[in-house]
Amino acid sequence: MLITGASAGIGSALAPVYAMHGWDLVLTARRRDALQDRADFLRDIYQATVTVIPEDLADPAAPRRLFEAVQAKGLTVDGLVNNAGFSRTAGFLDTDPEAHAAMIRVMLTAPVELARLFAPGMVERGYGRILNVASLAGRMPATGGDTLYGPIKSFLIKASQGLHLELRGTGVHVTALCPGYTLTEFHDANGTRAEVSAAYPGWMWQTADHVARVGYEACEANRPSVTPGIVNNLLAGLAKHLPDRLALAMVGGHAKRLKRI
Ligand SMILES: NC(=O)c1ccc[n+]([C@@H]2O[C@H](COP(=O)([O-])OP(=O)(O)OC[C@H]3O[C@@H](n4cnc5c(N)ncnc54)[C@H](OP(=O)(O)O)[C@@H]3O)[C@@H](O)[C@H]2O)c1
Repeated sequence: MLITGASAGIGSALAPVYAMHGWDLVLTARRRDALQDRADFLRDIYQATVTVIPEDLADPAAPRRLFEAVQAKGLTVDGLVNNAGFSRTAGFLDTDPEAHAAMIRVMLTAPVELARLFAPGMVERGYGRILNVASLAGRMPATGGDTLYGPIKSFLIKASQGLHLELRGTGVHVTALCPGYTLTEFHDANGTRAEVSAAYPGWMWQTADHVARVGYEACEANRPSVTPGIVNNLLAGLAKHLPDRLALAMVGGHAKRLKRI
């Protein structure tokens, strides 16, 4: 199982879930030390075979380099978790265009390219798992402030569902995982920890371990997508049935409260 963004958060939590089900692991992210620490833990506790390949997925050449590195090590990849991600909330005009490009590469282009590189082998062998970590944001109306994040995740959900349909009957399962607010480094990395902690009560937050288990089980069951938690499903259901103008007013008010617009 190749897991991107395995140095922290949901990716780091998915690694032991797959290890305890007997998978060998390839872990990737930018921080080599954090990956090595995670690999040591997985070897100690689960006797897993773990390979660490640091990569920056914002580099357009990274997906192919990763594919070639895995091949060069003689490893067969039967599973892919596209999980690496981050957001920028300063607003469209105040965000460095390079940061926008990196968001698109890490969360949209890289997952597509990695799936395109690894899925043919899975189909050929008649077995595979692809779990794409999207977000509840991809099921919600557009928001201001982190303007590109929701659309990128919507893309990933739709692309996963399309691939799920296409690969039905091949033995390759494809699932989009759409977590709501999850306790990880995500909101530290984008500098919004204080404001989101003040805005959202504890019961709205899920642990990365819980989200990881839900994602694993949904992919094993070959569900096209899964959203962990009743509240998150209620929110997404409500958003789907509201008229666009009302839905936008709702999320616009929310973005204002968070001082993002
Ligand atoms: N936390 C939430 O509330 C939440 C909710 C819904 C969806 N999600 C999604 O869940 C996924 C995982 O996020 P998380 O919450 O676990 O956040 P996190 O704790 O910040 O972990 C993000 C992971 O992505 C990696 N990453 C970031 N930029 C990268 C790059 N340029 N190249 C390679 N790896 C990179 C990070 O590793 P390095 O820094 O070592 O590179 C880290 O391992 C993301 O796709 C996120 O959009 C999160």
